[in-house]
Amino acid sequence: MRGPRTGIAGLMLAMLFASASIAAAQLPEVPADAFEPSSNCSCHAALVTQWARSMHAQALTDPLYLAKLEQADRETGGAVVPFCEECHGAVAAMAGEVEDRVFSEQGGEGVTCDLCHQMTGRQEGRIGNTSIVVTPDGVKRGPHDDAVSRSHESEYSAFHETAEFCGTCHNVFHPVNGLVLEATYTEWLEGPYSGEGIVCQDCHMTPGPGVTKPNPGRAAAGGPDRPHIYTMTFVGGNVALGDPVLAEERLQAAAEIDLEAPDVVESGGAVAATVRITNVGAGHYLPTGLTDFRRMWVELVATGPDGSETLVDKREFHTVFADADGNAPVEIWDAVAVDSDDRIPPRESVENTWEAVMPEDGPLALTATLYYRSCTEEFAEKAGVDVPTTTMTSASTLVYTSEAEAEAARRQAPGASPAAGGGLLLVMTAAAMALIAAILAYFILRHRASSS
Ligand code: HEC
Ligand code: HEC
Ligand code: HEC
Ligand code: HEC
Repeated sequence: MRGPRTGIAGLMLAMLFASASIAAAQLPEVPADAFEPSSNCSCHAALVTQWARSMHAQALTDPLYLAKLEQADRETGGAVVPFCEECHGAVAAMAGEVEDRVFSEQGGEGVTCDLCHQMTGRQEGRIGNTSIVVTPDGVKRGPHDDAVSRSHESEYSAFHETAEFCGTCHNVFHPVNGLVLEATYTEWLEGPYSGEGIVCQDCHMTPGPGVTKPNPGRAAAGGPDRPHIYTMTFVGGNVALGDPVLAEERLQAAAEIDLEAPDVVESGGAVAATVRITNVGAGHYLPTGLTDFRRMWVELVATGPDGSETLVDKREFHTVFADADGNAPVEIWDAVAVDSDDRIPPRESVENTWEAVMPEDGPLALTATLYYRSCTEEFAEKAGVDVPTTTMTSASTLVYTSEAEAEAARRQAPGASPAAGGGLLLVMTAAAMALIAAILAYFILRHRASSS
């Protein structure tokens, strides 16, 4: 992986990186055979299947990573590559395999089982930039003090139950100037979940999104039945390369939208709609991690009675980095400062009030939708990956031009007669049903209109 240097800027950057000696110096030299490949872990067959679909298993082969690595290699004259590979492939880096990218079985497995299960702590200082300590003596460290195996020694490790364990790699700072590039661990630490004792493992090593304890079962063939076992799924937002079903489910559990607009606005009037997004499910900012690369945005769309759609407004949630000359956006290796950072902290909300224009006659349908993509369409195309846009959540409401129009829409809907109901509850249920029916009727009419 050594490309031509890109002019004087590239050369200077390369010298800067070289002088900071960021080559895999943090990690010791360890031969690859001090780690076992996942094919040796057949007693944990279900866990091997889970891990094999995760981004951890693909960390060195992931085409989005490879496309970015190729660009980093080109633009820094190769200088930054060891830094990337050390975290995406610590076993390979320790075994000296990243220079020419000829990997042993275990080295090529990226963030593999035996790397994590021979981790014994973290290095002193700032948590992140692969600040792991490994003790490659064949003993598997994990969450049980009663684990017995015929294939390996086992040892209880409290470290494996902490968020710091994950933080060693899920915090990334610029190796030369120290700028924070990824801060999932710090975001968690400073958010509400850390105080409640809810760690990364509780959300990312369970069968579904969110805190889904308990998950009874056996983690090993012939092992005991346990009241709770962790999964090796490590599901995030990667629908394209990770498990698409679990990743979509997780993205959809992350946020909620509230949409508020008046019921009635006269034609030609301004409809002020408030869109509020709350990070209800992520233990860190939304989005997190590589947030200059990810795309998450909300769109408010107004649909008129003739079916015509107008984008009222949109807002993007991400980080933009700037270089020393103030140019933005720039790639992470050129970054010296954060130009802007618009994301949603855990359990917090952001709000925008946008204005649509009321058409001649109603109703006007307003729909707010939150979308997520692992990266831009251009980058996905360059990397040759089909990256879908996931709808995380959406909310709709109808606005009428007059009280009479609203009333008529309500009456049109079956079961809408409040007189039939006795208690307040019944009236409210009927009103809710009427609203649903009105929305349905509206969309059926619209569909008929547009297909005729
Ligand atoms: C990113 C690091 C990481 C990787 C990769 C990983 N594990 Fe784990 N594993 C952990 C952690 C951390 C725990 C303990 C979670 C806790 O207790 O909070 C664990 C728990 C376990 C357990 C005990 C489960 C239980 O709750 O009884 C087994 C068995 C296990 N892992 C096997 C594997 C195998 C086999 C692989 C590869 C196919 C693998 N792990 C990959 C980090 C990892
Ligand atoms: C040795 C470094 C390392 C450790 C330790 C580690 N990770 Fe990761 N993790 C990575 C890398 C590198 C990636 C990105 C791989 C890719 O997408 O190419 C990743 C990806 C992920 C993703 C997937 C993100 C997506 O977009 O879908 C999740 C979720 C995740 N890690 C959770 C965890 C959790 C939870 C722990 C702790 C139990 C942990 N990781 C420990 C390096 C690590
Ligand atoms: C309360 C549950 C919860 C906790 C705690 C939690 N996460 Fe997440 N995580 C989520 C949800 C939901 C998503 C999907 C939304 C998103 O992409 O941010 C997610 C996404 C991610 C992603 C993928 C981000 C992306 O867009 O590619 C990574 C990586 C990740 N988490 C790592 C971690 C790490 C590391 C920790 C601990 C420091 C942690 N998470 C703690 C719920 C949680
Ligand atoms: C200290 C660990 C670490 C280092 C160093 C690191 N990464 Fe990563 N990388 C991660 C983690 C963790 C994720 C997943 C975070 C998330 O999902 O948002 C990731 C994800 C990625 C992804 C997204 C992959 C996907 O499928 O969506 C790309 C691209 C990437 N890294 C490129 C690089 C490049 C290029 C470098 C070197 C300039 C680098 N990384 C250095 C930890 C690291």
